[in-house]
Amino acid sequence: MCPASQIRRIGVMTSGGDCPGLNAVIRAVTKTAIYQHSIEVFGIEDGFQGLVENRVRPLGTKDVSGILTRGGTILGSNNRANPARYFLGNDAAGNPRFEDRVGPCLDTIREHRLDALIVIGGDGTMAAVAPLVKAGLNVIGVPKTIDNDMVGTEITFGFLTAVATATDALDRLHSTADSHHRVVVCELMGRNAGWIALTAGVASGSDVILIPEIPFDIDLVCELVRARMARGPGFAVVSVAEGASPRGGAKMISRMDPRSADPVRLGGIGQWVCEEVEKRTGVESRASVLGHVQRGGAPSAPDRILATHFGHHAIATLMTGARGRLVVRHGNVFGDIDILETAGKQRLVGLDHPLIAAARAIGTSFGDGLPYSTPATKPSVVF
Ligand code: F6P
Repeated sequence: MCPASQIRRIGVMTSGGDCPGLNAVIRAVTKTAIYQHSIEVFGIEDGFQGLVENRVRPLGTKDVSGILTRGGTILGSNNRANPARYFLGNDAAGNPRFEDRVGPCLDTIREHRLDALIVIGGDGTMAAVAPLVKAGLNVIGVPKTIDNDMVGTEITFGFLTAVATATDALDRLHSTADSHHRVVVCELMGRNAGWIALTAGVASGSDVILIPEIPFDIDLVCELVRARMARGPGFAVVSVAEGASPRGGAKMISRMDPRSADPVRLGGIGQWVCEEVEKRTGVESRASVLGHVQRGGAPSAPDRILATHFGHHAIATLMTGARGRLVVRHGNVFGDIDILETAGKQRLVGLDHPLIAAARAIGTSFGDGLPYSTPATKPSVVF
């Protein structure tokens, strides 16, 4: 479409599940574009839904002033709207009806004379934007999700705040578990990846960490509980990812959302682990589900910084003349990759991740019975 020197007007949208730091990215994108390049910025409301419905508003520096510390997104978001598979409601038989709305999205872009679109979202968003990229729209993506599961980047903004929130919750559960000599199980988000449960589990000193990447044996979890009750300290804290499952068992689903391209909503494993542990060991147990608390609230300082880097880097990348890129961080260095490379893929925790080795070394159980072994490589992933 348009070389970097001719970029005059851009759109910005937040799409998918919200997370702390979205406003910080919107602010960095808007201020960098206006201050450094005199580019006009327009906000698209509610993700792809606003693009389809032509809900676009100008964003000036005043609109983004004071939002760095605010949770959520001033533009609104949506984790269902998808241009190529736009939900129109249910038919008479109750089945969802979809229609291709790529055309109206491109009409909105043309009507507002947008030379490029900054899309802040996760893997689902990058998959949903693919038809627009293929139709010639210049899209620069910014990787967002509390799940930290986007391919091509070692970190997404939102993740560190979710970990801080989950760690705080686990700390609180720790003291009540101790007082009552109970087992407390806390179910954390993360979809099919165990990044939040692993990281918050280690940060809070959880005794057991159950993640989707390591199917667990409930008997081994119970063994550890019995040992802690017999030899002290007389309580146990279990951090479990919503996508974790017992060996040979399936992931637990809390609901299906047919309007969403990824209709599965996970949940229920925390309660299951809690009930099984109580039944098999006789130790009084309680389950907590942290849920959307992990997505809300003010971003932590590291997330404000990361979001500011990503927002600035998105505009810097656009102004190099790049097209269809996702800004990423790799080895602590910011870069960019083909936006379509990440679409619909998920980055899981590697079984050789140094944090798993460190946790095993200090006696944390992953419910798999595997002993600690010295890592073959030096730790390379730093938060
Ligand atoms: O991807 C972010 C996330 O919070 C996941 O951790 C969780 O599985 C899912 O979204 C929940 O989606 P919803 O907001 O539709 O309940």
